[in-house]
Amino acid sequence: MERELLELKQEAEEALAQVTGADQLEAFRVKFLGRKGGLLTGILRQLGQAAPEDRPRLGQLANDIKLGLESSVDEKKAQLVASVGTGGGGTDYSLPGRYLSFGKSHPVTQVMEEICSIFVGLGFAVAEGPDVETDHYNFEALNIPKHHPARDMHDTFYVSESLLLRTHTSPMQARIMERQDPPLRYVVPGKVYRCDSDMTHTPMFHQVEGLLVDRQVSFADLKGVLTSFTHKIFERELPLRFRPSYFPFTEPSAEVDVACVICGGSGCRVCKRTGWLEILGSGLIDPEVLKMVGYDPDIYSGFAFGLGVERIAMLKYGIDDIRLYYENDLRFLSQF
Ligand code: DAH
Repeated sequence: MERELLELKQEAEEALAQVTGADQLEAFRVKFLGRKGGLLTGILRQLGQAAPEDRPRLGQLANDIKLGLESSVDEKKAQLVASVGTGGGGTDYSLPGRYLSFGKSHPVTQVMEEICSIFVGLGFAVAEGPDVETDHYNFEALNIPKHHPARDMHDTFYVSESLLLRTHTSPMQARIMERQDPPLRYVVPGKVYRCDSDMTHTPMFHQVEGLLVDRQVSFADLKGVLTSFTHKIFERELPLRFRPSYFPFTEPSAEVDVACVICGGSGCRVCKRTGWLEILGSGLIDPEVLKMVGYDPDIYSGFAFGLGVERIAMLKYGIDDIRLYYENDLRFLSQF
């Protein structure tokens, strides 16, 4: 065993002389000194089989070899560090570590989630629908037949004659009502698409649709829900204005304006001196739409609304160009 130990020592010294890099040094350490399967450890395990009178001497020798090799490894490590930059190829253990930066949600995603969680707090459930939609759900089921002038406003991307990229989240109104009887309360977050691009429009943007159907739902219910939503999302009690409007799938319809978040209503560049900012479209669901999904409009009524997420986020954070969201500039994105 003594011979074995001395041979191992010599083999190790020769091997160590060949080591030129940190990876090799680690491989060396594992091979000779490793706790599991290391060569020296292997020999030490057999110590018990040696004659009792030889054991102390052999033990001492093995230990000396071990300590010697360990300090040679340390020395080698120091040499490698010192030779960094001189072509030695070692690892510079004195370099500071790299910081890991954590990813986080996109500001639009953050605001969309915040919008949904406010409505969940008001008792709404969350549903999602397909981005590629049929002409039927995107238009027909919402009381927008072929050749209806409202189709012009949608700048639709068609996939085929009957398939398109949904231009709004409203098609989910019909899908939800078809599969479920009232009472129901849903919000539908998602991507929508329109062939349009400038300071305030991108070809893809996000909406959250809202839908509530029950017996005796009135415009007052719509006003109440939207007022408490607006107060929560803008974190202050800004006045609201319900302005008469027209959508084929609601009657009556209203666009909702909030007092300008920048000037508070006195008039500025953002609100174009009107003091008001439009934030969503809404109304009581048209009886024709209810009939198409098989609801009796004499028994049930409901309201719906659709809001643009990018727009709400722009107002909430004072962002003046919608395209900033989609340029993937981390200096912008990491501010949220
Ligand atoms: N879908 C409409 C749009 O994208 C917004 C809208 C208006 C949704 C009125 C509604 C609503 O649910 O009742 O322009």
